[in-house]
Amino acid sequence: MTTDEKVTLLHGPMLGMVPQAKRPPGVTIGAGYIPGIARLGIPALVESDASLGVANLGGVLRKGDVATALPSGLALAATWNPDLVYAGGKMIGSEARAKGFNVLLAGGVNLVRDPRGGRTFEYLGEDPLLAGRLVAAQIGGVQSNHIMSTIKHFALNDQETGRNIASVNFDEASARESDLLAFELGIEGGHPGAVMCSYNRVGDTYACENRFLLTDVLRRDWGFSGFVMSDWGAVHSVGALTAGLDQESGEALDTKRFFSTELSSALLAGEVPMAAVDRATLGILTAIYSQGLVDHPVIGKSAIDYAADGAVALRAEQQGIVLLRNQDGILPLKAHPRTILLVGGHGDLGVLSGGGSSQVSPVGGLRRRATATGSFTGYGYGGTPPLEALRTAFPDSVITYIDSTDLPATIAAAAKADIAVVIGEKFSSEGVDVRDLSLGGGQDDLIAAVAGANPNTVVVLETGNPVVMPWRDKVAAILEAWYPGQSGGTAVAQVLSGAVNPSGHLPVTFPADFGQIPNPVLPGSTMGPPSKQDKALYGSAVTSPTFDIGYPEGSDVGYRWYDARHAVPLYPFGFGLSYTHFAYAGLQAHGGAAVRVTFRVTNTGTAAGADVPQVYVTLPGKARRLIGWSRTDLAPGQTRTVTVVADRRLLARYSVQNRGWLVAAGPVKVEVSRAATDPVLTASVRIAAAQLQP
Ligand code: BGC
Repeated sequence: MTTDEKVTLLHGPMLGMVPQAKRPPGVTIGAGYIPGIARLGIPALVESDASLGVANLGGVLRKGDVATALPSGLALAATWNPDLVYAGGKMIGSEARAKGFNVLLAGGVNLVRDPRGGRTFEYLGEDPLLAGRLVAAQIGGVQSNHIMSTIKHFALNDQETGRNIASVNFDEASARESDLLAFELGIEGGHPGAVMCSYNRVGDTYACENRFLLTDVLRRDWGFSGFVMSDWGAVHSVGALTAGLDQESGEALDTKRFFSTELSSALLAGEVPMAAVDRATLGILTAIYSQGLVDHPVIGKSAIDYAADGAVALRAEQQGIVLLRNQDGILPLKAHPRTILLVGGHGDLGVLSGGGSSQVSPVGGLRRRATATGSFTGYGYGGTPPLEALRTAFPDSVITYIDSTDLPATIAAAAKADIAVVIGEKFSSEGVDVRDLSLGGGQDDLIAAVAGANPNTVVVLETGNPVVMPWRDKVAAILEAWYPGQSGGTAVAQVLSGAVNPSGHLPVTFPADFGQIPNPVLPGSTMGPPSKQDKALYGSAVTSPTFDIGYPEGSDVGYRWYDARHAVPLYPFGFGLSYTHFAYAGLQAHGGAAVRVTFRVTNTGTAAGADVPQVYVTLPGKARRLIGWSRTDLAPGQTRTVTVVADRRLLARYSVQNRGWLVAAGPVKVEVSRAATDPVLTASVRIAAAQLQP
């Protein structure tokens, strides 16, 4: 290859920003584009977001184009079902191929460290094992189409506030045991072609020019052989190449053309060695060939079976809805209520989705679009409207909708209905963190008032983050439906009618209040509004001074923090109710070189259902942590034996000095639990000492 050919592969534009006349003909417009090299048969990389469906940036990239919209990442994680997450990835990959893309910017696996994170809805929760295993499944599903997937955003990009100026400064061992472990598991299980580095700094150095992350951890320790692409507008120097970045994405968003004009001069001046260009080229070509982009090229566009793909979105939400409360077994709704009043949340229009680059225009389109401060896509409602879905699920009931703007009228209508279903909604988006954990817009008062008027009040939450529920004890039932995806209205109605038995379990802790979370004041949130340039819209030029994000919880992310401090959350990680009951018995736990746990799960109720028994270990002096789970479908009366074997990294601590994992010999408490705070069976085993490579 000539130097020019190599450099061609190292950078590319966001085609949507390129004037029409200069765009390559016939190329589908998505988030990114890297030209190919015809002489060598190297295909162009045609890139689209992302993890929840083939995205369309608020409908502006491809006017009128829609795609199947999965429920949010948190809903996918709440299924605890890698097979289903694989099916979701496979579906998105096939739609990407049919639309002319060969790279999906999927695989978002940043841990939920702060419940206010604007992208919490996109990610897979707070636990590195759960998130890491699920992201591996998602990537595997995408790549089964010979469509390359990324894993992102590497690393520690866990909040939006100051995302392109802040520096995450905390110790390496904690990072290895938490956020980096999620990536490590995702990469070894999913084999993504590419890693996308993040906007933020880590240890004062931008993630996209961070030799420790991109070279030492990723390549030296994990043996990653694909390539690193930047996030859009996250490159700050040509030296990023020598630190380990291979490709500059969305180059017009950076302050300079670092990996083209600047690189050419730097090569001439001998400031960047040719070996760095060769390494980057090799990584890109390795990913292109090993993912089958050459043997299975994307040729033109093809038809999409939206009905079949919609069924995947439906299944995901059926398993992702979490039943949080069900007083006196009000759900499933008995017989057929005469009247149901649906309140708020634009339940007559569709369901809410999150904003930002991941936003999908669902089949049927996004209705009632509105702007939202800090979000560059705004929001709308799509998919099957809950009102329509309820009418299908309860054909003999009279179902009406009221939008809740007239509070007295809403309360009067609620008093007259047999059942009141209130949708509590909260929009969140890439680019901006939510300010607090309440639903906002008077919804908490509304729910309390409706519940005061009607004891049969059911709350359906459409949120991208944990929320607090001051009205919790007043309402009969609560469903966390997350952003439910295009078939979510149907799934919610099916859960209410009992056609579907809920089986989702929380992948994040719901705090009781702000005082419980590690950073009660969100880092950077007191700095005042960002300057025009610093707006978190992509990377853009950055002029504000950096600030530190410290993580007092270290590797005790989420439920482990609560455990260490004996704090009682509103709802714990792993929690989720069912319409049936499950019993656990017969625990056998073995230690030694590994921890191996076997037990029986029995459905002791009268409805078929799926359970997610979870296994946690507690090492002396440490907080408990998840080592495995088993999602198990059981008919009434049926029993299954379940075995869980711990990955030894979960029993170890990371030693920076030894550059590896150290398992200390000694006793370990093992628990089989319904949720992080609800152990049912307990045993103690002794584990043997071990030293493992990173
Ligand atoms: C996001 C990435 C996304 C990229 C391209 C960035 O704003 O952080 O997740 O893939 O845009 O749209």
